[in-house]
Amino acid sequence: MATGKSTIGGLVAQATGRPFIDLDRVIESEGRETIDRLFATRGEATFRALERACLTRILAEAESASEPPVIAVGGGALMARDLRLRALDECVVVSLEGSPSELIRRALAQGSRPLLAGGDPETRVRELLAQRAPGYAEAHARINCEAPPEQVASAVREVWQRDELAVAAGEASYPVHIGPGVALARIASQLERSPVSVLVSDRNVTSLHGAALRGALRECSSKLVSVDFEPGEAHKNIGSVESVWRAALAGSADRQSTFVGFGGGVVTDMTGFAASTYMRGVRWICVPTTLLAMVDASVGGKTGVDLESAKNAVGAFWQPSIVLCDIDLLATESRRGFVSGLAEVVKTALIGDPELFQLLEQQAERVAERDPELCAELVRRSIRVKARIVSFDEREGGLRATLNLGHTIGHALEAQAGYTGLTHGEAVSLGLVAALRLGERLGMTPVDLSQRTHDMLKRLGLPVALDANALGLATQLIGHDKKRAGSSVRFVFARQLGRVESLPIALSELAAHVTTLAN
Ligand SMILES: NC(=O)c1ccc[n+]([C@@H]2O[C@H](COP(=O)([O-])OP(=O)(O)OC[C@H]3O[C@@H](n4cnc5c(N)ncnc54)[C@H](O)[C@@H]3O)[C@@H](O)[C@H]2O)c1
Ligand SMILES: [Zn+2]
Repeated sequence: MATGKSTIGGLVAQATGRPFIDLDRVIESEGRETIDRLFATRGEATFRALERACLTRILAEAESASEPPVIAVGGGALMARDLRLRALDECVVVSLEGSPSELIRRALAQGSRPLLAGGDPETRVRELLAQRAPGYAEAHARINCEAPPEQVASAVREVWQRDELAVAAGEASYPVHIGPGVALARIASQLERSPVSVLVSDRNVTSLHGAALRGALRECSSKLVSVDFEPGEAHKNIGSVESVWRAALAGSADRQSTFVGFGGGVVTDMTGFAASTYMRGVRWICVPTTLLAMVDASVGGKTGVDLESAKNAVGAFWQPSIVLCDIDLLATESRRGFVSGLAEVVKTALIGDPELFQLLEQQAERVAERDPELCAELVRRSIRVKARIVSFDEREGGLRATLNLGHTIGHALEAQAGYTGLTHGEAVSLGLVAALRLGERLGMTPVDLSQRTHDMLKRLGLPVALDANALGLATQLIGHDKKRAGSSVRFVFARQLGRVESLPIALSELAAHVTTLAN
């Protein structure tokens, strides 16, 4: 309210040559009354329904428009979370924000404002802002509207030009920057207000990229504390996390400090967990350096460590304040590691991005060669799908479970190979082939999709040959794991490209089919 959205929106539209739509004007013409009158005569609920209908239509039209518009929407229009997440996925969303006293001054100067009616305006504005804060935080950026309009408009344009992704998690929402060089170019500004910063990495990554990172931070005013783990999953334990806590303490890191996880998924999972617990939680920045860590581990807020043989048995949900996916860093990843990461990209494409699937099919060879532009596109599209899913479902609900496509059998094959024979991604590749074939047998998955996926995984350099013996043993493991959960497991089936469904399947049925899936 009174943030100047119509003026700013108009200026942004003018500067970018886009059409401008003021949602309030559309509602007024549809409702044949001014907003104030609509509120007064028909009540807020009717107004909101009309607002929702108009915005839904505008968003649908914008999707296919050759020149998508700049849309100014009222402060309540995106409070319905489904609509807000849709906007966040399809548009660049900017919240204009101001201090209550300035907003009231402007609102009163402009005449009546229905939401301020009755009671003390200051109290009412504070109440509204508090109520809506988690919604306003779920935006690509929050910009102060008290500067001159031209300045605010240019700040909005900058956000639009950066075209970053945003992961919605209420007030813990965060942006994801993707592209060559983004880590080195942007890390220093992220640490400016952190008196002490704790840089966590592993020895492999430090020997390859540590000097460049330190170079990028040379001018940074933050005091730097470094911790390097021994590389590998074997070191993903509480002892390693303790070494981060200790180094932070010795370096006088306090609540204002920032932790930086600079490495593969092992490093970022542990850095996030160390940050979630140090001083009851400090800010952290995720700089993934492997394809798997970029497309999977960097988004969703899961952090933690292994306990004995139990993977990720101890952990916490703790969102990073920003994710920097620097495509340049992928150049040094081992071929096996990179190709393994591609299995998760294929999985993500099957779950929610048919265009990504087609891109992989058309460009499999260039992908395997790590063409930087293509890598950036794969990372962007994969994160977008994952962000969409985890935003709707922050914890382990039904939607998030769809991310397990290929993982029920995949995990079991990985465990059955003693976590050494197969990488996680290789096991997921086999798990995908098996899950799609099982779907075929049960009439859930089109034969053609199963075949296309198999062929693509193979072209990308991933294993696709299923062994009856290994599958049999793996199914026994699934049964063993699920003993307490009953006689069935939830299994994710691919129904068509971009659409999956999670359904229970009896363990006996799984066992009966699974060994017949081998080729
Ligand atoms: N939090 C989540 O949601 C989530 C999701 C998926 C996976 N994970 C976790 O991620 C971990 C696996 O991640 P990973 O495959 O990145 O493992 P990793 O961190 O062990 O990295 C694999 C290897 O690559 C090296 N490496 C990293 N970056 C490099 C680079 N740029 N150049 C050369 N070498 C490099 C590492 O030193 C290591 O030896 C697992 O522990 C898994 O549980 C977490
Ligand atoms: Zn996985």
